[in-house]
Parts: sequence; structure tokens; C-alpha cells
Amino acid sequence: MKRQLHLNLFIHSRGHHEASWRHPLSSPLPLTDIRYYQDLAQRAEAGLFDSIFLADQLALGDDASQAARTWLEPVTVLAATAVATSRIGLIATCSTTYTEPFNLARQFASLDHISKGRVAWNIVTSWLATAAGNFGGAGQMSHADRYVRAEEFMTVVKALWDSWADDAVIDDRAGGHYARADRIRPINHKGEHYQVAGPLNLPRTPQGRPVLVQAGSSDIGRRFAARHAEAVFTAHMEKKTAQEFHADLKRLVAEEGRKPEQVLILPGLSPMIASTQAEAERMTRETNELSDPEVGRKRLSGRFGGHDFSHLPLDRPLTPEDFPDPGSVQAARSRTEVILSLVRREKPTLRQLLANLAGARGHFCVAGTPEQVADIIEDWFSDGAADGFNIMPPLLPAMLDVFSAEVIPILQKRGLFRTSYEGKTLREHYGLDWPASAFKQAALQEA
Ligand SMILES: Cc1cc2nc3c(=O)[nH]c(=O)nc-3n(C[C@H](O)[C@H](O)[C@H](O)COP(=O)(O)O)c2cc1C
Repeated sequence: MKRQLHLNLFIHSRGHHEASWRHPLSSPLPLTDIRYYQDLAQRAEAGLFDSIFLADQLALGDDASQAARTWLEPVTVLAATAVATSRIGLIATCSTTYTEPFNLARQFASLDHISKGRVAWNIVTSWLATAAGNFGGAGQMSHADRYVRAEEFMTVVKALWDSWADDAVIDDRAGGHYARADRIRPINHKGEHYQVAGPLNLPRTPQGRPVLVQAGSSDIGRRFAARHAEAVFTAHMEKKTAQEFHADLKRLVAEEGRKPEQVLILPGLSPMIASTQAEAERMTRETNELSDPEVGRKRLSGRFGGHDFSHLPLDRPLTPEDFPDPGSVQAARSRTEVILSLVRREKPTLRQLLANLAGARGHFCVAGTPEQVADIIEDWFSDGAADGFNIMPPLLPAMLDVFSAEVIPILQKRGLFRTSYEGKTLREHYGLDWPASAFKQAALQEA
């Protein structure tokens, strides 16, 4: 069968454009109304998307008075969307820095049971400096230390998910025998950061383990992804850097002894779509005019670990010297590189840079017709830049609906996207192998 692309819907605010929350085309529902998320998941399911994704941060931004910066806690939302949908995959973000592995393993195992095998965890180490103030206040852990801790975290959660054999539960009412004790094992983990006895207090999940998603693009983030991730989100503003990332990550995956096709790379794409390019560009301009450059300035500062940009005039061309060295930033290192390469390439003024970032925070934004958007998707997909896309509509639900109604049929006609769901689980939608349980691995080793 022809290689097919994978589409994830990234749900964020009332759309990914910074000003989406006040745009007349965005949803009138409050961002605290669960029907908003359920409705978007149902729309994405009707469009045959592989999955939906919810990001998360563990602190309120300091621009809450001028920007819609609140959302419901993602694990809770996934439980509610799981019961409102039946086929689409569901991805929630959770931090390895600010939760315990036992809690996380249990929550995601529960979600995988609730959704009957449609759940994934987006593993983050939490780049936002202010999050540290909400968890003990000891200050932000360094970029490297966060990844060291995350590595041990992964060992523990995987062992917990594997601590029950597939056939441990027999639920034999007549015989009075619920589970086979010899098919459930403690994990007895004693490491530098975690001491966890196990086993998990839940049977093995429908997918064996939830699907693992990751989005770190720095060197250390890529190595982490190569070891653990089954899908990777990434931000690129041009095809060339996406191709380099794709080739590099697949190489690292092979170096880890894994199959490169078992890790899907999904760059972000934020399409403003209209019947003519001029109309799509007019809509983008109109949405940009609703955004406040001072909100953008604060967000830029957050991206660069709190660096002060307040003295920079809005209308002078920027130079790389206006920014701190990305190597010294303890926040999200890869996105700072994306922003700096844009500054080097296009020498925008601060106002222009902020308008660009307002679109989708450094992801690839395009304004065009359905045909033009489908052409870009096909070009990146067939030219080694992507295995699919993380679709980030600038306005929700308006631009999701246009994408589903106008772009997906073109992709289907070209044989690039499914015309119905074939599988029931996210592993099946993504074409991923089933993880063998620890019991099966041990049996294979003994045989
Ligand atoms: C599409 C996408 C979604 C992300 N979602 C989150 C998120 O929800 N929470 C978070 O703390 N970081 C999020 N990140 C940031 C990454 O997980 C990562 O922490 C960041 O890129 C810093 O790691 P790096 O320095 O290795 O790139 C996201 C990144 C991308 C590309």
C-alpha cells in the first residue's frame, strides 16, 4: 500500500493564532466548557484524523489579562473526550519534572482502559521557568538535569506498565479466582531520583503501553526521543530544517537499535485557508491586527527564559545580538534556535517577528487555497520532511472545518490519507508495533 500520512489536531485555546480568542470566527464557548473539547474531538474524528493533542504548562502566563491563557487540565479532559468519541487517538501532556512516575503510569493506564486503547502521553520536562515556583519554589532545574531525571522516569513508568502480564486477570467468579499472582510482579526500582516498589495497581492496558509522544528538538531532546518516542512533534518554518531534523532523528533512532518507521515525525502546520490566496492573506492580516505586540513581547521573554526585551523598539530590524545565546537558555532550546534563524534569514523588526510568532509560536504558517495547502503537505511528506502533520488551525473550529471539508478530500484523492478508520487503537492508526510485556520478553529470553 502507498505510504499514508498521519494527521494530528493540536487543540489550543480558540485556535493557535494568539488573537484567536477574540476573533469573530472562533468558538463562542468558554475555554472551561468541556463541550468545547468534546466537540473539537468529534469534528476531528469525523475528519478521520489519527489523534487530537492537548499541550500543558504548569503556571499561568503573566499576560492573562490580555490573552486567553487558561485551559482545563489535559488528563481530565482526555477522560471526558474518550467517552465522547470512539476511534480517534487522544494525546495529553504531562511533565516528568513535576509528577511522580507511579501517579503518571496509573493515570495513563486508566485513560488507555477508558478509551479502549486510544491514548498517548506527550512527555515533557517543562521548559517554563515560572512552573518551578508552583512546585516547591527551589528554582528551575537545568535543561540537562531535567532530561537526566526524565530518563529514569521512563524506566520506572515502562516497568510499571509492564508489571502485569496480558493474561493476569482471569475474573473467575465461580472459582473465586480474580487474578494470577504469578503474572503480576513488583518492579523494585531504586534509582537516583525514584524509589518505586510496584507493581502498578491496574491491569495491563489495551495498547500494552500508551503510545509515547515527545517534542524536544535540542541535541539532548532528540536523543531522548530516539530512545523513547513513537511520535515526535516539532516546529519548523522551512522545509530544509524539517528535512534535516527528519534525517537526523531517524538516524538516531536506528542508532538506538529501533526501526526508523516506528517513530513518526509530525511538524506543526498552521493553515489559514480560503478560496483564493488573496482572501487567506487578508484573513491573516485581519487576525494579526487583533493581536497585541506587548503580549507577544512577554511571550518572547518567556521563550528565552525570562530575558528582558522591554527596551527593544518595535520598528528597528533585529540582529542576533538582540537575543541571548541559545546555549545559555534553560527553557525550550530548540524553539529559540528557530526564532534566531528567522532573525538571521529575514532581519525582521520586532513588530514583524511578533506578528510572525503570533500565528503559531514559531511553527510553519501558511495562507492559501485548499489546493495550495494540500500541495505543501504532499511536498513535505514525499520529500523527507514529515511523516504527517500536527495541524494547528489558527482559528477553532472554523479552520479545522475548512481543512476537513476542503483539504482532506484532496489528500484522499491523491491516495495520501485514509478514507475510513481501519484500526481501533492509536497504535493501529499510527502503524506502530505492540510493545511486548515484560513477561513475554522474559519468556522469549528463556526460550
Ligand atoms: C508541538 C509541540 C508541543 C509542545 N507542547 C509542550 C507542552 O505542552 N508543554 C511543555 O512544557 N512543552 C511543550 N513543548 C516543548 C517541548 O516538549 C520541549 O520541552 C521543548 O522543545 C524543550 O526541549 P528542547 O530544548 O529539547 O527542544 C512542545 C513542543 C512542540 C514542538
